[in-house]
This record gives sequence, structure tokens and C-alpha cells, in this order.
Amino acid sequence: MRLTILGGGGFRVPLVYGALLGDRAEGRVTHVVLHDLDAARLSAVSRVLAEQAAGVPDAPEVTATTDLDEALRGADFVFSAIRVGGLQGRADDERVALAEGVLGQETVGAGGIAYGLRTVPVAVDIARRVARLAPDAWVINFTNPAGLVTEAMSRHLGDRVIGICDSPVGLGRRIARVLGADPDQAWIDYVGLNHLGWVRGLRVAGRDELPRLLADPALLGSFEEGRLFGPEWLGSLGAIPNEYLHYYYFNREAVRAYRTAERTRGAFLRDQQERFYAEAGRADVSALELWDRTRAEREATYMAENRQAAGAGEREADDLSGGYEKVALALMRAVARNERATLILNVRNRGTLCVLDPEAVVEVPCLVDANGAHPMAVDPLPGHATALVCAVKAVERDVLAAAESGSRATAVRAFALHPLVDSVAVARRLVDGYTAVHPGLAYLR
Ligand code: G6P
Ligand code: MN
Repeated sequence: MRLTILGGGGFRVPLVYGALLGDRAEGRVTHVVLHDLDAARLSAVSRVLAEQAAGVPDAPEVTATTDLDEALRGADFVFSAIRVGGLQGRADDERVALAEGVLGQETVGAGGIAYGLRTVPVAVDIARRVARLAPDAWVINFTNPAGLVTEAMSRHLGDRVIGICDSPVGLGRRIARVLGADPDQAWIDYVGLNHLGWVRGLRVAGRDELPRLLADPALLGSFEEGRLFGPEWLGSLGAIPNEYLHYYYFNREAVRAYRTAERTRGAFLRDQQERFYAEAGRADVSALELWDRTRAEREATYMAENRQAAGAGEREADDLSGGYEKVALALMRAVARNERATLILNVRNRGTLCVLDPEAVVEVPCLVDANGAHPMAVDPLPGHATALVCAVKAVERDVLAAAESGSRATAVRAFALHPLVDSVAVARRLVDGYTAVHPGLAYLR
């Protein structure tokens, strides 16, 4: 079985390869094709993978190419994990928004809109090529903003593209753990859009254990989201939000923390990875050891500003790894081997959330088998959550429309209608600011 990874020179690729190395089952991936625009990054990552594979019998063969069509031909699965504009682009997304006093973040608010506007045209081009060159392949989209990008690709690939995120499963596991439940036996009632969802229940043997957690401040204080949002607010909500909702519920505090931080997350990662890719090419260093040290540092500092701003303390040491690769592998296994699994994924809504149309990509529990990911029936969201979901989906639709038409006015509307952008004048200046720094937005007229 052949797996193609787009963004194959990316820093997280060794996590995926590590997960593949641990898979000994029938029908596993035997050949990995890495594609990237940057040959130097490809060779750095190839060195890491070669060290990972050393001594592992039947390790999946790895080849690398900068030719996209060649990478896609013959693929059974495609992981799309690209970052249009690189980490410099992410740093610019953050900086331009923060200079306007609004949230500058990778996927949420103004920064996420800018990232989406840059990424959608590239993702659509990839989707078209997959449809032509590998029509039977399944595309697993990691590229952020994952919900929006999956929806863009689904217009060309239908339900053969499935978006993933590690945050819902991570949240579900943390909640199960504090409740003393086995996460693999628990049904996690999680619904929303990517980075905009809520856990409303956690059922073990038919019993909802979440009310017990919501009523217990000591238990709530014992895990990350409990501390981030605080017992009082969680009690009022009656649900546990995804950590990304901190940017909505504590927007002012998050913006202040980010504006006063020494540098943004994107700038930190840009500098960190610049060092990694420069040093990984040296013959006298172990690329794998260097990668692992860099990864540990990255994970330990994840969302640190939010936690500090909320007085939430450090992330638990045993809860550092994001887990993208585990979600991706579980999904690929369930599809390839028809092993039924329930996973929280980004898929077309059909009728799942009745306030959204059937084509809207949502993040919900799905039953996965060889026929793909089937969203499961869920209870409706309460009014406040429905309002946020609908507002953000409307913004995503404007991003898709602007990317298709190249209309600057539509791009302004996307920023202006976002709940975290507080003025049309700010939205106009954001479009000016972003088009000035991002060559990838030159298409807006
Ligand atoms: C989580 C989210 C991803 C996001 C990442 C950012 O894993 O689910 O969608 O890209 O965090 O982490 P970073 O280390 O790049 O700031
Ligand atoms: Mn994510």
C-alpha cells in the first residue's frame, strides 16, 4: 500500500513515519512517497526517517520527489499536510492581526482567515489533481485551517477527503482520565467545527459521566481545559469546550498575552525550525536526535501564553504529543481494512447539524469503514454554540467564495463578519496589511 505525504519535508512527518513503523498488521503501508516544494527540507526529513527505520525489519520504503503529479500517481492514501507561505507566513498572519489589536493566531480569527485565503487555492489545485491522477485514493487532510480546507477539497473530491485534528480526541482522553474511565470504552459527545467544538457528554456503559465532572471543582482543576476555562464558566456552559474556544471566551486576555509576548508562536517555530533544517544536513549530527530535541521543546511550549494568561499552569508531561499521527493511522486502518472505528473527524454534514446545509464540513463523531467516514446522529447544539458555529461557517464560506472569485470585497466581508474582528474598518486594513506581505494573496482584486 502506497501513502503519499504532501508537505513531506514538514517537521511532523517523522511522527507519521514512527506510527507506520509500529504497524505490523496485514495491509499496512509499504511505500511512503514524500512530496515537498523544497528539496533541502525533503532531504533533511529523509535523513530522520532513515535513522528511524534503522534496524526495523520491513520498514516502509521511502522515496522523495518535488514533482506533485508523480507523487500522486498510484497513491492509495494521500496525507495533505502543507503550509502555504511556510512558518514565515504564519508569523505574518499573527503579527498583522495583533498590530490591529485583534487575535493573531494560526487558525482562529483574522490570522486563520488570512491563512485560509492563501491555502484554499493551493488545496483546490491538489484536489483537482488527485481527482484526475488518483481518483480512487483517500485524502486525509491535516492542512489547516482543517475544516475550511477540507470543505474546499470536498467540492472536488466529495467524501473521499476527510479532515483530521488531534484536539477533540486529546480533550476526550483528558476528560475520560480525570473521570477514571477508559477512553477507548467511552462515547464522547463532541460536536462543532474544527477548533470550535464542545464535549457535551461522556458516556460509559450508557451513563453520562460529564455532570459529575462539571459539579466537581477539584476534578475540574486537575486537567488542562478545566484550569484554562475555570470551573465556574464550565459549570455555566454545561460543556467542556475545545481549548481553541479560549480565544473566543477570553479573547481580550488572549490578545493581550499575545501582544506582550516576546514573539509569536509562528515566529518562535520559524526560528526553531530554521535551526533544525540548517543543522539536520550536517554529516556529524544525528538528524533523529536533533529532531527529537526540537520536537520536545515545541510540545512543551504549545499554547503556553494562553495557559499563563489563564493561570492554568503547565501541560501534563505525559500529555505532550499532539497525536495527529495516531488519528490519521486509525482512520487509514479503518478504511483500508474495513475495521470499524468511531473517530471524531471533519466531514460533510449531511443532516448531522440541522442548522447547517448538507455540504458544510463539520467536526463530529463518525463511524469509519471501507466506505469512508459516516457522521453519526448527534443532539443539536444549544443556541450560543449554534450562533458561533453559524457565524464562523458563514465566514468560511466567504473565504471559499473570495478564493474562487478573487474578490477583495468578499475577502473584506470574511474578516468583517468574523466574531473576533470588531470593525469593518479593521477588516479593510487587515486585507491591505495581509495583501502587502503575502505574495499568495496577489490574486485578490
Ligand atoms: C494542535 C492543533 C493543530 C495545530 C497545532 C499547532 O495540534 O490541533 O491544528 O496546527 O496544535 O501547534 P504548534 O506547535 O504548531 O503551535
Ligand atoms: Mn487541529
